[in-house]
Amino acid sequence: MLADVRLNQFEVNTSVSLSVGVVGAGYVGLTLATCLSELGHRVLCVDSESGKVEQLNLGNPTILEPGLPELLRANLETGRLRFQIGSAATVAEAEIIFLCLPTPMSQTGDADTASVMEAIRELATRVRGGTIIVNKSTVPIGFEEVAEAILARDDVHLVSNPEFLREGSSVSDFLNPDRIVVGAKSQTVADRFLRLYERIDAPVIVTDPVSAETIKYGANAMLAARLSFINSLAQLCEVVDADIDDVLNGIGLDHRIGPELMHPGPGWGGSCLPKDTRALLQTSQQAGFDFPLLAQVIDSNIAQIDHMVNRIERAAGAPTSGATVAALGLTFKAGTDDLRGSPSLEVLDRLIARGASVRAFDPTQTKNPSLDAHRISVGSDPYEICVGADVLVVLTEWPEFSVLDFGRIFTLMSNPSIVDARNILDPKELRDIGFTYVGIGRN
Ligand SMILES: NC(=O)c1ccc[n+]([C@@H]2O[C@H](COP(=O)([O-])OP(=O)(O)OC[C@H]3O[C@@H](n4cnc5c(N)ncnc54)[C@H](O)[C@@H]3O)[C@@H](O)[C@H]2O)c1
Repeated sequence: MLADVRLNQFEVNTSVSLSVGVVGAGYVGLTLATCLSELGHRVLCVDSESGKVEQLNLGNPTILEPGLPELLRANLETGRLRFQIGSAATVAEAEIIFLCLPTPMSQTGDADTASVMEAIRELATRVRGGTIIVNKSTVPIGFEEVAEAILARDDVHLVSNPEFLREGSSVSDFLNPDRIVVGAKSQTVADRFLRLYERIDAPVIVTDPVSAETIKYGANAMLAARLSFINSLAQLCEVVDADIDDVLNGIGLDHRIGPELMHPGPGWGGSCLPKDTRALLQTSQQAGFDFPLLAQVIDSNIAQIDHMVNRIERAAGAPTSGATVAALGLTFKAGTDDLRGSPSLEVLDRLIARGASVRAFDPTQTKNPSLDAHRISVGSDPYEICVGADVLVVLTEWPEFSVLDFGRIFTLMSNPSIVDARNILDPKELRDIGFTYVGIGRN
C-alpha cells in the first residue's frame, strides 16, 4: 500500500510548502493532516483528546486506514507534521486553517454545528488578515453565511472544501480523489487555496459555497438512494424468486449505471450517510421543498433493517426471547474499525430488545468501550461465538469470514442455520454441509 501512496520526495522538496493548521484529528482531520504533509506542507494538527495526540506523536494512528501508519511515521520524521493538544486557537498562526470537527445529528435531524461555530469564534479574534479558514466538516447548506456572521472579518476568507473520502481507503482517496470541490466567494481566494493541492491530479470544481455544500449532501444522498434501491430490488428478488447477484451484474454492466456499489446488505449506515441524508431532508423541508424521494430512501433503509431482523428471527428456529445469535461483523463495512451508525449494531440491538442473546466477532473489535451500551458479548474467536448458537449471521463483508471452516462451525452450533446479510458465502457449499442457508435476494 505504501508504494501506492508515497510521493516522490524530490518533488516534495521543490514544490510549494504552505503553513497549515488542522483542527480535529479524526478520520477526516488525521488523513488530511498526514496527506498534506506528504504533499510538502508544514502541518500542525490539534485535537482536544490528549490520549489521541500522544499516540499520534508516537507514530501510532488512532484509526485503521491502509497506508496511514507509514505516511504518518515518515512525515513525523521530516518534521513537517506535528500534533498538539488544543483547539482552533492553537493553530491561529497558520496561513490556511482546516476545520475537521464532528457535526453529529441533533435531536431534530439537523447537523449539530456547535463545535465548528465555536472554532470560528475562537479564530475570529486571533487570525491575521489574509488567513483562509476552510470548512471540511459536513455542514448544513447555507452554513457559510452563519460562519461569516460569526467571523465578522472582511480580511479573512472562508472556503468550503467538502471531503468525499471513504473510510477504509481514506489515504488513497485523498491523494487520488475523483474531484476537488472548492466553494469560495472569489476566484483569487480559490486559487490561493488550491496551491495546497497543486500536486494532486484531479478535476477541480470551483463554485460558490452554497453549491459546494449542496454537492456534498447531494453525493451522499445519491449513494444512499442507490443502496436503498438495490436493497429493495433484493427484496423483490426474494418474492419473485430471482437472483440479486445476477440481476445486479446485468444492471451494472450498463455503462450509464456502472458496477460500483452494487451489493445488497442489511441496510446502509456509517458515520455519514444516515446523518447527512436526514440533515439534507431537514434543510430541504425548511427551505420549502418536501423532497419525498429522499424521505422514501431513508424509510426504505429502516424497512431493510426490519426485514433482516425478521429473517434472522425466522432462521433461528427458536423463540427470539432466549435464542442465541452468533454475529460475524460489527463495523458498518469491511476495512474500517468505525462502529458509528453501523447497521450491524442496529440489527443486533433489535434482536436483543426482543430477548435474544448476542455474541459477536469482528476482526477490529475487542474491548471497544462504545460497545458497552449494546449488551453484545464480543468474542476474540469466530468459532467460540458459534458454540450453542441458534443462528449465525454475517453482517459485515470482511473477506476472512468467507474462508472460515464451516464444517467445524456446523458441529458447534445448536441449530445449523446461517443468515448471510452480505451474500459473501457459498450457499451450495453450506447446504452440502447441512446448514439452512438464507442469503439476501438469493433464490
Ligand atoms: N468520516 C468520514 O468518512 C467523513 C467523510 C466526509 C466528511 N466527513 C465529515 O467530516 C467531519 C469530521 O468527521 P470525522 O469522521 O473525522 O469525525 P471524528 O469524530 O472522527 O473526528 C473529530 C475529531 O475532532 C476532535 N474534536 C472535537 N472537538 C474538538 C475541539 N473543540 N477542538 C479540537 N478537537 C476537537 C475529536 O476529538 C475527534 O478526534 C464531520 O462533519 C463529518 O460529517 C466525515
